[in-house]
Amino acid sequence: MAKNQPAVLIPSDAIERKVTELGARIATDYARRTPLLLVGVLKGSFIFLADLSRRIAIPHAVDFIALSSYGDATRSTGEVRLIMDLRQAIAGKHVLIVEDIVDTGHTLAYLTHILGAREPASLHTCALVHKPSRREVDVRIHYVGFEIPDKWVVGYGLDYADQYRTLPYIGYVEPPKEPSAGS
Ligand code: PRP
Repeated sequence: MAKNQPAVLIPSDAIERKVTELGARIATDYARRTPLLLVGVLKGSFIFLADLSRRIAIPHAVDFIALSSYGDATRSTGEVRLIMDLRQAIAGKHVLIVEDIVDTGHTLAYLTHILGAREPASLHTCALVHKPSRREVDVRIHYVGFEIPDKWVVGYGLDYADQYRTLPYIGYVEPPKEPSAGS
């Protein structure tokens, strides 16, 4: 491990294999469900979405939505804010939400609520990693990459105070203790 680099939790070759596997499953499952729209949740999902999209060997479109619950803090407030909406209507489309991580579940719960109200033909969810031990609300993740322990993970799109997103692997750091920190 290089100096000052986060410790490795999931190496890049394991991520690559998992993304390929998820892409193949999604392509099979959606072969007869068209049109398919991948909705990437910014900012964290941008790298996962870019790789996943290129592993889904059926026609599909991509759009983005930006939400924030953490800001620069290390603990979810439970309050999710819509920063930027989709560019397109989703009524009648098969929508697959693509998240980098599901932690407390508040972001995904909010997202499925607001997108579900727009009458998509179907609404499913995909997350590269999730932390079941941190869940505060019950959310269904249809396609999961890795279940991980309660560590502050960074890399492959995931950040700590907007740093580390471009690491090719998923690593973990020890964030400074906050008075009420739970991460
Ligand atoms: C992260 C991540 C998810 C959300 C998951 O976003 O990208 O969207 O937290 O946490 P939850 O399950 O506890 O709601 P963040 O708010 O850190 O913004 P970012 O993606 O721009 O880094």
